[in-house]
Amino acid sequence: MSETTGKDPVYEVDSLIAEDIEAYLDQHQNKGLLRFITCGSVDDGKSTLIGRLLYDSKMIFEDQLASLEADSKRVGTQGQEIDFALLVDGLAAEREQGITIDVAYRFFSTEKRKFIVADTPGHEQYTRNMVTGASTADLAVILVDARKGVLVQTKRHSTIAHLLGIRHLVLAVNKMDLVEYSQEVFDQIVSDYGDFAKELGIKEFTAIPLSGFRGDNITAAPSANTPWYGGPSLIDHLETVEIANVAAQKRSFRMPVQWVNRPNLDFRGFAGLITDGTIQPGDAVRVVPSGRTSTVKSIVTMGGELDEAVAGQSVTIRLDDEIDCSRGDMIAAADNPPQASDQFEATLVWMSEEAMKPGRAYWLKLGTQNVSASVQVPKYELNVNTLDHLAAKTLELNSIGVAEVHTDKPIVFEPYATSRALGGFILIDKITNATVAAGMLNFSLRRADNVHWQPTTITREHHAAMKNQTPRLLWFTGLSGSGKSTIANAVEARLNLMNRHTFLLDGDNVRHGLNKDLGFTEADRIENIRRVGEVARLMVDAGLIVMTAFISPFRAERQMVREMFDDDEFIEIFVDTPLEVAERRDVKGLYKKARAGELKNFTGIDSPYEEPHSAEIRVNTVEMSVEEAAEHIIAQILPLK
Ligand code: ADX
Repeated sequence: MSETTGKDPVYEVDSLIAEDIEAYLDQHQNKGLLRFITCGSVDDGKSTLIGRLLYDSKMIFEDQLASLEADSKRVGTQGQEIDFALLVDGLAAEREQGITIDVAYRFFSTEKRKFIVADTPGHEQYTRNMVTGASTADLAVILVDARKGVLVQTKRHSTIAHLLGIRHLVLAVNKMDLVEYSQEVFDQIVSDYGDFAKELGIKEFTAIPLSGFRGDNITAAPSANTPWYGGPSLIDHLETVEIANVAAQKRSFRMPVQWVNRPNLDFRGFAGLITDGTIQPGDAVRVVPSGRTSTVKSIVTMGGELDEAVAGQSVTIRLDDEIDCSRGDMIAAADNPPQASDQFEATLVWMSEEAMKPGRAYWLKLGTQNVSASVQVPKYELNVNTLDHLAAKTLELNSIGVAEVHTDKPIVFEPYATSRALGGFILIDKITNATVAAGMLNFSLRRADNVHWQPTTITREHHAAMKNQTPRLLWFTGLSGSGKSTIANAVEARLNLMNRHTFLLDGDNVRHGLNKDLGFTEADRIENIRRVGEVARLMVDAGLIVMTAFISPFRAERQMVREMFDDDEFIEIFVDTPLEVAERRDVKGLYKKARAGELKNFTGIDSPYEEPHSAEIRVNTVEMSVEEAAEHIIAQILPLK
């Protein structure tokens, strides 16, 4: 930041993270902040328009302006005039280098409002970038070149903006100077766009004729070049449109609890960002999902106690009663609490190079809640240009689809259409920690509300005690023909001699019954392992020592099964027989068929095997006999009581 001429400075922020924005918001509650996104390509004049906005709102530092003029003379494409695109592209170029998600955020302000504009370049990674910028935006400026009119990309931008719940759309018909400021041209574009918007379900939009280059209808003064236009200038509109936080204040109160603030024995408060509604001391609240009710004793902030707090503010709430409430819970209006569910229909935007794997467990992060979740085979993929529903088995990078999402425990939510804060989530790959998708919860599947866990009188502890043993799951993994079944079989025989109650689940056998509907595609293998994991868990609950012999080629699914068990219960055994050896043995003749191309997706040949990084036990039938391997495993797992 540096000195400016009277007004607030422009904040050029290199990498802006959500927390920065929240901190900023906290400090500037009173003034209001509009977040918007600009959609369009450089050819539509997007950079020039943003540059002009920054320039005309006089928010550029003097020294920055001087250097801009100098730069324009050197490299600008606009002769002696200032090339506003340079203001924006300079930063974008730097950013190109290391960051994959390529969104440039810029702050500027006028006397009425502050603004954050997210600018997403329009290369092939477009959807992902646009989603990142759009997920928090109140408004989208959809740029159209007056000479070209509504294009496929205009529709794509609008679809994504609408899908992400951006309530205000501006159709910025740019480069009006190049069509002689023709009202006819403008009206035709507005009418074309109106037809499409209607189809999409967009109720209203604001169309503005402008010229980023010449400055028409950007700042407050109406342009003399468009006397036929009676609407607002772009900045006028940006200054007066309703901000989402303001709309959110009209809804029922919700605050996801970020942390419990307990500096000393006398003070206990719940800190978080209010996503919806308003709250005052004395209001009745309910903690979800527990359902406990209490009354607000006081609302505390850094600046002291408040008589009222509203959506968009971060506060600490103290309650009258000492009720249980922790991170991930929500404090809500007592008379209208949100729902909790573990099965949803959701719209997903896939953001990872690696396609979605139906059935795989990902982390789902929704506000302060973090749970394990899986996505089912999509119901359909959306063609964002035509709005057609396409059949899809998975979702690839930048595609948008609708699918069921199942979480391993209920989460508190609102449909995205009602609340972006409580209905928007991201999916995170459990192994690489990368964000793979952004999602919007559409609704909870009613069946989730009607199926409840039945507590039983005889617990897993009783079952184990009756069998006088410690239940375990011995999970064998390795290539086909590595010796999993043979070794597991030898281990089971030994355990039986020791009077242990066991059961062996074997890949080939289970695939004849329970899983006979499954083949060997990635999705089917994931489902195979998920079901086997569930069956194994029931058997461990029944008190058994369970062995499973499945290739289980993917780390993520072995990890998923591991997470279904207590720490010491799950023992991963890697049968580490090299591919050459398994192939030489070729007990079932399958490697030969796979090499001949008669068997597709064969593990080790044209389907991957991901070796365990941290298996509890590793055996190898090249270095030891089956009997030795079985001995070695038994020695490692004893005692079993
Ligand atoms: S897993 O990958 O889903 O864990 P699983 O262990 O159930 O596989 O089944 C593997 C067994 O199926 C192999 O031992 C082999 O006999 C047989 N099989 C048939 N087709 C294939 C294939 N394409 N890839 C691997 N195994 C196959």
